[in-house]
Amino acid sequence: MSSIHIEAKVGEIAETVLLPGDPLRAKFVAENLLENAVCYNRVRNMFGYTGTYHGKRVSIQGSGMGMGSSAIYVNELINTYHVKNIIRVGTCGAIQKDITLGQVLLAVSASGDSGANAAYFNGMHYAATADFDLLLKAYNIAKDLQIKTIQGSIFSTDTFYDDIPNRWDIWEKHGIIGVEMESQILYTLAKRLGAKALSVLTVSDNIVTGQVSGAKEREQAYMDMMKIALELA
Ligand code: HPA
Repeated sequence: MSSIHIEAKVGEIAETVLLPGDPLRAKFVAENLLENAVCYNRVRNMFGYTGTYHGKRVSIQGSGMGMGSSAIYVNELINTYHVKNIIRVGTCGAIQKDITLGQVLLAVSASGDSGANAAYFNGMHYAATADFDLLLKAYNIAKDLQIKTIQGSIFSTDTFYDDIPNRWDIWEKHGIIGVEMESQILYTLAKRLGAKALSVLTVSDNIVTGQVSGAKEREQAYMDMMKIALELA
């Protein structure tokens, strides 16, 4: 048996899955950081691999960008492949002026504007929250690795491009630290379907100051984030 968008057989995906948006990131990490990685999904080029990290079995699956795409993979990973832990690894834009590029964020909770999320709750507002065990473990792992993290609330949006004036001011004022496009639906679905979830993010740009990171900064930050996520697995 397999699912609609993943061609793996049940059992070929580990209990813990790292979920980058970019399928080529999944391929890169599998080929460079995992041992004995085997590709289990090529449907739509949304690559997924299972291998081991320090002897522990782990999978890494591309999700695509946005909540529409990532929700499909989260649903299928949990419902069909009985995945227990999903750790998103991705980038975000910071919306506090003193958060620097390359900083690693642990997303405690995710507000957002997702239509899918609102539909589940009849227009009421659910506080989509990370799993505390994963959050605490990630925090301690980062400390041991001497990687500085910021813990806080983020915002997941359906629209990367928009023309709403001063859109982020109200969220900045309420302490939101970063904006990305997947975590709110990940947290909601994980809770709904009985799995644990956490997003570990690196800051690729700062929306308040207009800074954007270069390729080299992004590479270093990505490796810090991946180390935390892989140790967590
Ligand atoms: N907006 C939304 N998603 C993002 C951003 C952003 O500025 N940066 C990285 N992911």
